[in-house]
Amino acid sequence: MGKNIILIGMMGSGKSTIGRLLAQKIENFDFVDTDEEIEKTAKMTIPEIFIDYGESSFRELESGTIKRFCAHENQVISTGGGCVESIENIEALKESGIVFYLKASVDTLFERVKHTDDRPMLYDEDPRKKLKMLLKRREPLYQSADFVIDTENKSQDDIVSELRDLYYAHR
Ligand code: S3P
Repeated sequence: MGKNIILIGMMGSGKSTIGRLLAQKIENFDFVDTDEEIEKTAKMTIPEIFIDYGESSFRELESGTIKRFCAHENQVISTGGGCVESIENIEALKESGIVFYLKASVDTLFERVKHTDDRPMLYDEDPRKKLKMLLKRREPLYQSADFVIDTENKSQDDIVSELRDLYYAHR
């Protein structure tokens, strides 16, 4: 039995890409992306959920999904960027495994998300400013992770190795 590996961080921090690669490097580990699970359960995309039912309904689905997967072990769990705004989510995630914050600058994050249109939190006349504001608000919450991983100027492989080494040293 192994604790989970949980990735938190802003939109564009690489949680899903890194999480998927990391899960392949650890024997008997599954990869779970909470946003994908929410979409499967709701049979709707995240933008559709936000538009039809609002952010608070999305957050309820998100908390339910986190609870559901935290009850299992041997998973890399990639979370949505806003999940840390609920203390219950943070507590459930920390209890179920080791939490890693994938940290990146506003410039890096914005470069990665600026050509995408599937993040309703950035449906704003100034998406960069909104991203910056969200990061400022969430940074102290992300810092409650067990480990902060600076992802700037590192390859995906380097980040995956760093996470894997930390996990093996602390599981
Ligand atoms: C959100 C981030 C998204 C998704 C939703 C809300 C946020 O996930 O959960 O659009 O509030 O930052 P990613 O961090 O995977 O983009």
